[in-house]
Amino acid sequence: MNLKFENFVDTLQGEDILAKTDRLDEVLSSGIMTGNEALGMVTMNKVSPESDIREKDGKIHNVIMLGSNSYLNLSTHPQVMDGARQALDEFGYGMGAVSNYAGITDIHKELEGRIAEFYGVEDSIVFPSGYGANVGIVSALCSKNDVVINDAANHASIFDGCMLSGADIKVYPHKDMRYLERILSRLPEEKTGRLIITDGVFSMDGDMAPLDKIVELAQKYRCRVMVDDAHGVGVVGKTGRGTAEYFGVTGKIDLNVGMLSKGPGGLGGYCAASRKVVQYLRLYARSYFFSTALPASVAGGLNEVFKLLASDNAGREKLWENINYLKLKLSEKGFDIGNSQSAVIPVMIYSEPVLFELYDKLRRNGVYVNIVTYPAVRRKECRMRLCAMKDLNFEQIERAVDIIAKYAREYNVIS
Ligand SMILES: Cc1ncc(COP(=O)(O)O)c(C=O)c1O
Repeated sequence: MNLKFENFVDTLQGEDILAKTDRLDEVLSSGIMTGNEALGMVTMNKVSPESDIREKDGKIHNVIMLGSNSYLNLSTHPQVMDGARQALDEFGYGMGAVSNYAGITDIHKELEGRIAEFYGVEDSIVFPSGYGANVGIVSALCSKNDVVINDAANHASIFDGCMLSGADIKVYPHKDMRYLERILSRLPEEKTGRLIITDGVFSMDGDMAPLDKIVELAQKYRCRVMVDDAHGVGVVGKTGRGTAEYFGVTGKIDLNVGMLSKGPGGLGGYCAASRKVVQYLRLYARSYFFSTALPASVAGGLNEVFKLLASDNAGREKLWENINYLKLKLSEKGFDIGNSQSAVIPVMIYSEPVLFELYDKLRRNGVYVNIVTYPAVRRKECRMRLCAMKDLNFEQIERAVDIIAKYAREYNVIS
């Protein structure tokens, strides 16, 4: 049987639309490794460096957690949890309405103000989901007369927003600035609606977009710039303000997009921009207009998060000690860890069968990592995706890398 992801996307000739679910079920229950072996796994603790998990066969065991995007452990920060608790007590657990109607409280307004201040811009809009933020922002601002120019490694939600917008979609190879300029230089004069979109920190490689160069090209070719800094906020830049700060282009990004679910440890997404852009998005971003507002408890927690981030007191330095130590230990063992500049560290495997088996072995032997393959990256670039976390200690990092190395040697990933 052919095991490619794509084989379960289309309805085959003569099939009912649900027949593909039978075909997939047959494969997943066949015992053949597909990379989905952890499907059904349950986490038994709050986000923490070591966690109990329950496998789908009911077995409970402990793992060192290298698979969480809550890099700064803000999901469990006492001040953040207190903020969430207070908002929960005041407003209950759900908002019961979309933001433009009865779904917004002063807690939500405070959060939007804090995010705008964090970027030094006029206003911000908070979406109830990060994925929805990208889809809503791009599809609201761009339409059939426009062109959107994307890094090939941009997040899926950006591409989905582009497709929904109906704009002409162009893609340049990952961080290839010469190719980007080639695209820009060939745009017809009459195509005046131009938006370059890039992740700040790339979610699968952990490297950063060269925003200084992108801003320069945008100015030269009269484009707007949107940066999704989901994995950069709180982590990179001199004071943790993200990739634009790192490259010295704060204030030159038209649409500062970010997710509240990664470093900030909560849920949701935002766009920090001018007052007029935010006003427009409130009315035209359909994933905002037609979607219930973030629970006040999450917004309350996030207000405390942004107090910590604004004063650069969220533990960034400690996180970087762990990032550097984890990278050092992996390099010492001989792993290919790409060019990470953030808390996301790829460990390249290059073979899906090896990746799937390794993933299963590591998890069952005490280390949880995420794995990435098609459709998130090309199959031949498949990898483990390790995330550093602030609350890990060096002993846990060493233990995790020893376990990873032991099993990786069995598969000749390292010698
Ligand atoms: C770069 C990037 N953008 C957007 C998202 C979507 O964010 P969320 O998971 O909060 O919906 C993610 C996370 O998956 C991401 O990595």
